[in-house]
Amino acid sequence: MRNLLALNWKMNKTPSEARSWAAELGERYEEGNAELAVMAPFVTISTLAANLPAGVGLGAQDVSAHESGAYTGETSAAMLADVGVQYVVVGHSERRDYHGETDNVVAAKAKLVQANGLLPIVCVGEKLDVREKGQQVAYTLAQLHGSLEGVGSDVVIAYEPVWAIGTGKTATADDAEELAVAIRSALEERYGKKSSEIRVLYGGSVKPDNIASICAKPNINGALVGGASLKVADVLGMNDALKDA
Ligand code: PGA
Repeated sequence: MRNLLALNWKMNKTPSEARSWAAELGERYEEGNAELAVMAPFVTISTLAANLPAGVGLGAQDVSAHESGAYTGETSAAMLADVGVQYVVVGHSERRDYHGETDNVVAAKAKLVQANGLLPIVCVGEKLDVREKGQQVAYTLAQLHGSLEGVGSDVVIAYEPVWAIGTGKTATADDAEELAVAIRSALEERYGKKSSEIRVLYGGSVKPDNIASICAKPNINGALVGGASLKVADVLGMNDALKDA
C-alpha cells in the first residue's frame, strides 16, 4: 500500500504564507512512492487548491458534526468537498482535549465526511498515564471502536500517542507497530476483507530522520506530521526518506 504523508499544519500559515510554501514545494518536489497531502486551516484550502503541485492532495483538520443550517462558525463536509478537499482529520487529540470532542462526535463527523465522498482520517491514541499503566492497547482500541460506530471502511486511521505529539518524544517504531497490529486486527473484525485497504498512520514527532524506520513497519502505511510539516525542506526530506518505501 502506498504510504500517505499527511501534513497537519494545525493553526499555522496564513493564505499568503501557504501560497509561498506551495510555490517553494513546487520548485523542488518530485513525486515519489509516498502520497503527500496537506491538512490545512479552512481559510487556506482554496489557496492551496489553486497552488499545490500536481499530485499533492488536500485535506482539512476538522469538520462540523452537522450537515448544514444554524451552526454559526461551523464548516460542513459538503463545503469541504466543494473546495476540492479529499481528506478530513477527525478526532485529533487537540480537538478532543480543547474542544471536548467525544467518540460519538468523532463518529458523527466521520460519517458526514464519508457521505460527501471524502476520506476521514480518524485519530486515536493514549496519554502518558495510560501508557505508564501499560493500558495503551485496550485504551486505544476502545477509542477506535467508539470513533468508528456506524462509520464505513473508507477510512484512514492515525495512531497518535498524545505524549509524543509536539514533544520531540517519538514512540519507537516497535511501540508504533504494536498499536498498528492491534488496530489492524480490530479493523479486520469490524470490516472483514475490506480492512486490508485501510491505511494505518503513525503520528507524534515524526521527522525526516525517523520516518523511514517507522513506515518500514509492515502495519504502518504513512504518517500524520505536525511540526515537521511547516518547512518545505523537512517535507522534502520526509518525501525522500519514503521514496523507495
Ligand atoms: P507533531 O504533531 O508531529 O508536531 O508531533 C503530530 C500531530 O499532532 O498530528
